[in-house]
Parts: sequence; C-alpha cells; structure tokens
Amino acid sequence: MADASQGSEFVVVANRLPVDLEKLPDGSTRWKRSPGGLVTALEPILRANKGAWVGWPGVPDVDVEPFYEDGLELCPVGLSEKEVADYYEGFSNATLWPLYHDVIVKPVYDRSWWNAYVEVNRRFAETTSKAAAQGATVWIQDYQLQLVPKMLRMLRPDLTIGFFLHIPFPPVELFMQMPWRTEIVEGLLGADLIGFHLPGGAQNFLYLARRLAGQVTSRGTVGVRSKLGSVQVGFRTVRVGAFPISIDSGDLDEKSRSKAVRDRAKQIRKELGNPKRIMLGVDRLDYTKGIDVRLNAFRELLEEDRVDPVDNIIVQLATPSRERVESYKAMRGEIEQQVGRINGEYGQVGHPVVHYLHRPIPRDDLIAYFVAADVMLVTPLRDGMNLVAKEYIASRSDLGGSLVLSEFTGAAAELRQAYLCNPHDLDSVKDAIVSALEQQPEDGRRHMRAMRRQVLAHDVDRWARSFLNALSEPAEGAPRHVHE
Ligand code: ADP
Ligand code: G6P
Repeated sequence: MADASQGSEFVVVANRLPVDLEKLPDGSTRWKRSPGGLVTALEPILRANKGAWVGWPGVPDVDVEPFYEDGLELCPVGLSEKEVADYYEGFSNATLWPLYHDVIVKPVYDRSWWNAYVEVNRRFAETTSKAAAQGATVWIQDYQLQLVPKMLRMLRPDLTIGFFLHIPFPPVELFMQMPWRTEIVEGLLGADLIGFHLPGGAQNFLYLARRLAGQVTSRGTVGVRSKLGSVQVGFRTVRVGAFPISIDSGDLDEKSRSKAVRDRAKQIRKELGNPKRIMLGVDRLDYTKGIDVRLNAFRELLEEDRVDPVDNIIVQLATPSRERVESYKAMRGEIEQQVGRINGEYGQVGHPVVHYLHRPIPRDDLIAYFVAADVMLVTPLRDGMNLVAKEYIASRSDLGGSLVLSEFTGAAAELRQAYLCNPHDLDSVKDAIVSALEQQPEDGRRHMRAMRRQVLAHDVDRWARSFLNALSEPAEGAPRHVHE
C-alpha cells in the first residue's frame, strides 16, 4: 500500500488538469486553461477546498513534477504519444464518447485501445494513491477513468471514493454493445457513491449492476439529489444518484453586470453591423453539439424567406477539440463548408450572415457575447448537461434574450421555459428559432426570470455540496430487494 502519511484530504481525479501545457514555437512552454465543461465546473470548487487535482497535462511525452498553483496542488499523470492515441483519442473518444452519446457516430471497438485504457487507468489509480492522505476523500471524474474506482479501492481501502459521470449514461441496449461492459460496471462499483446528471442514467446503471455484475440492487425510482439507489457489493453498499451539474452562476451574473462587459457587448453588436437580431452558438467543435443542425435550420429559414438575412445573423464560436480523431476532422470540414455555402448564397461583401471563429474565446469576452446575443442556439443531438445554456441564462441579468434548447440535453430537464426543440426534426428547430426571434419582450422577461431563478439557486457549489454530503453520509443497511 502507498505511504499515506502525507498527502491531501481531498483529491479530484480527472483525465485533464485544469490547465494544459502549451508548447510554443520557440520551444518554451506555458500553461493555459483546459477546454470543456468539466474544468469549468470543478475548478472553482477545488480552489475553495484547497485540495489536490490529479490529471494529464494535455500534451504527450512530458514529465512534470507536482506543483502548486493558487493554493491548488496539481499532480500530473504523463501519457506517451501512443497512450494519447490509444487511451485518449481511441478508447475514450472514438469508443466511449460515441457509445454514450447515442451512437451518433459508430463506436470503434479495438482490443489494443482497451488494453491502453486499463493501463492508463491503473497509472491514475497509482498516482492518486500517493497523493491522498489516510482516510481522504477522492472524487474521480468522467468516462475516461471508469476503472479507477475499483483499482484505487484495491490499493487504498481506507479512502472514501466518489465517481461522477459528466456525460450521459446510455440506454441499456446501447451499453450492451461494449465488449468490456462487465469490467466497466465492476470498475465503477469500486466507488462508494456513483453520480449521474439524470435519474434515467442512474436507473440504467442499477439495471446493469444486476444484469452484468450479478449484484443485489434497490428497485425504487431514483430522484434528483434525493432517493439514492443502492447496490450491495459484498459487505459494501454502493450508492447511486442523480446530481445535475451547474456553473458558478453568481460569478457570471456579477461579471455580466459590469460596465466593461456591457460596453464590450455594445461594441460587439456594432462590430457586427448592428443587426436587428444576433443568434449565438458557443461549443466545443463536437458532432454531439448539433452545430450542423442549427446551420441547416438557418439555411432553410433563409431559403423559405421566413428570416431576413439583412436583419438576422449567426455568430458561431467553436473551440477546437480532439482534432486528430477522424470523426472530428470530417465534421469540421462539413461545418466549414456549410458556413461557406450560407455566406456564399446570402451574405454581402463585408456582411456575412454566419460569423464563425475556430478558437477559444477569453472568458470575459464570452460573457459579453452572451449579453449581446438575442437568441442563444443550443441544439445538441445528445448532451449530458450543457453548461453553455446555463451560462447564457446566468449572464442575462437584464432579463433580455431567449434560449433555443434541444430536448436531448440534461439542461432541458431544468430549463423548461426555453424554446425546446427536437434536433432530429428540422421543422421543430426552425419553429423554435422563429418563435425565439419573434418573442414578445414581456414573455421573454417572464421566461428569463423563471430560468434565472433555477440557475442562480442551483449553482455548481450546491451541486458539489449535494454530491459530497451524500458521499460522506454512512450508507444505510443492505437494500431490501433481491436481484432477478
Ligand atoms: P462540453 O463539456 O461538452 O464541452 P459544456 O457546454 O458543458 O460542453 O461546457 C463547455 C464549456 O466550454 C463552457 O464553460 C463554455 O463556456 C466553454 N466554451 C465552449 N466553447 C467555447 C469557446 N468557443 N470559447 C471559450 N469557451 C468555450
Ligand atoms: C467534456 C467531457 C470532459 C472533457 C471535455 C473536453 O466536458 O465531459 O471530460 O475534458 O469535454 O474534452 P477534452 O477531450 O478536450 O478533454
């Protein structure tokens, strides 16, 4: 067993550190913020808790010693070029990611990728076992690390182990495709508490714990932050619950009220030629996000004369993501072709109808874009939560703007006053866009007020507290029901 005489009382384990190491052309390096919702959500929590964060520094073949940043201990886990290709780009992002997102693209099942996944999960478990103090709480994050709970428990039975899945947990029929399905379920069952965004994910997992791992589980319905399910694994009771994630909504609300952000928002509108309506998309460039769906809907609305290209424009901000994975390369080409086609047909010289940036936008600038946008377009084909939808709502202290939101996001369960649409039905998306563009100001304010109440009351701090409180509570006795 590792020497636990020192170490942190609270350790977060995620595939990525909150900062990525960037190699500059002159050979020097610097740290920059990592992409994605997981880091957005967890960074404020961990800074407040003064814990340690175990993760990959984002580039292959670097050997970085643990270091402190703003009171946060960062413990890097190195990955070789081949491990990045097999564990990260391969098994995590070409097998698990598409399988868990409704097989929007076909998952690839490759034994050598699986072997790399096992190997890298083992390295994460070993690094964590060295970083955690005796009896510490360890919180493992997301689909890249589903085997770590069991591996870590074997190394360090003294630890309290939580696991949270940031992406959807798939329907049972899809999960059953996975050749290593039993190993994954058993890996997760090493945790004391397993969290999902939605009750449906928790229920799917309970069914699989019975069917694949042959465990006795509870049968009642799982609630939101309540009515946890349970799985009896030998003498241990593993609890399973739904904890919808959120954002630091107070911080966004405050920043969006600042003069600097308001002025920048006005400047953005001016730079865009002061159009009557600005629609905005903000996403990692990922095929789950339905960027193609909103562009198709917009093109058809222009074609049918339902929307005027002089008055209505789209700004699409897209952060580069997983650029060496084939499906991501193909999708980038298709989206850029769509943007070119729409501008070619409906733009004027100096006045495109779709403004597209393929780069991350600084945080304060992003908030100004939220404040400037009349309609926020969030149209994923499947998304565990979608923090962008919540960020937009938190940034609209002026009660302006409207949200078009796919029913296939976790956020749709909470933001019922949005213009909800089915991204598989283009007419539904087009109608939602037109309703959002034409909404009466008083209706808009009413909807926005209701959604803001939800987002401001349920912030990321409340999410973390509800998970960590449940993790620290002793599990009640064995579940009463017997398995099939
Ligand atoms: P995912 O975790 O799948 O990337 P989320 O919507 O949950 O999706 O979270 C994405 C996070 O990344 C949000 O905090 C969002 O503000 C940020 N983000 C997305 N696109 C950009 C962009 N183009 N520039 C800067 N930040 C972005
Ligand atoms: C989503 C996933 C995270 C991931 C992020 C960015 O939010 O749930 O686990 O870190 O996307 O993706 P990347 O592959 O760049 O880490």
